[in-house]
Amino acid sequence: MKRFPKKRVVITGAGSGLGRAMSLEFAKLGWNVCVSDINAERAKETERLVTLQGGTPLVIGCDVTRPEQLESLAAELKKKWGGVDIVINNAGVAAAGFMEKIRLETWDWIITLNLKSVIYGCRAFIPLLEAQGGGHIVNVASNAGIASLPEMACYNVTKAGVISLSETLRAELTPKKIGVSVVAPTFFKTNLMDQFTSPDPRQRQMANAFFNKSSVTSEDVARHVIRAVKKNQLYVITQWDGKLAWFCKRLTPEIYFKVLGWIYKKGLGDRYLGMPKAA
Ligand SMILES: NC(=O)c1ccc[n+]([C@@H]2O[C@H](COP(=O)([O-])OP(=O)(O)OC[C@H]3O[C@@H](n4cnc5c(N)ncnc54)[C@H](O)[C@@H]3O)[C@@H](O)[C@H]2O)c1
Repeated sequence: MKRFPKKRVVITGAGSGLGRAMSLEFAKLGWNVCVSDINAERAKETERLVTLQGGTPLVIGCDVTRPEQLESLAAELKKKWGGVDIVINNAGVAAAGFMEKIRLETWDWIITLNLKSVIYGCRAFIPLLEAQGGGHIVNVASNAGIASLPEMACYNVTKAGVISLSETLRAELTPKKIGVSVVAPTFFKTNLMDQFTSPDPRQRQMANAFFNKSSVTSEDVARHVIRAVKKNQLYVITQWDGKLAWFCKRLTPEIYFKVLGWIYKKGLGDRYLGMPKAA
């Protein structure tokens, strides 16, 4: 992390799960951590924990669905810290369902919260990073944007969008000395199910089963992110199953989707998760 001697990071959705875990990992390294979240209470708790871990916290509330609030966040950091080294667009939510049943309101909600929020974050911070001579952007996507598992269209689409945006920015921001990483974890336990929505209870059950199968923690993922930023790595694929999906899909996309369709038709995924087969 020698690239960033001033040690300043801002993390959206830092009140819980991965956002909090990343805040604490940066705190352990003695960073200034701007804890940003829509939930003031959760942000306060992260602030307390950051101090305990040896970091210097700064709480600034921000609703990532509001572009003007991300612009204010950038302006506030310029005023308080003179800039910021790493910007982590992390806040996000989850939803699932059969394509024809996902409500249009759910599509609007999740596209705004998971994809437009990252667009707003990048737009707000790139001018600041450029003016100060560089920095790094971390966009938190998901392996969902690569694996394209069935019954998760709305979530998959938003995360694939975040991956595409990050890939584009990787080259576009190179002349501006701004690094870009995109994080694509598979399931790990957080509070993500709090705001989860699906038209059928089946998808909630499915998501819970995936979470229960995972032995990876937010801390594991957070440490992986820091290692990747250190190396200025674009793709941050944090778990073995995610690496397998990524590798197979890139190597043999036609076969990947044939096999995925066959597994789904046979209900093997349901069997693995201990669920009744999809109707
Ligand atoms: N947990 C997983 O299995 C998993 C897997 C892949 C990707 N992700 C991604 O990781 C990111 C973090 O999720 P998490 O699992 O830590 O969930 P989480 O629910 O524990 O944390 C999300 C945080 O975002 C905040 N938030 C929600 N709406 C907001 C808004 N409008 N503005 C600002 N903050 C808002 C919440 O208050 C919460 O503190 C998300 O982008 C999620 O899609 C999670």
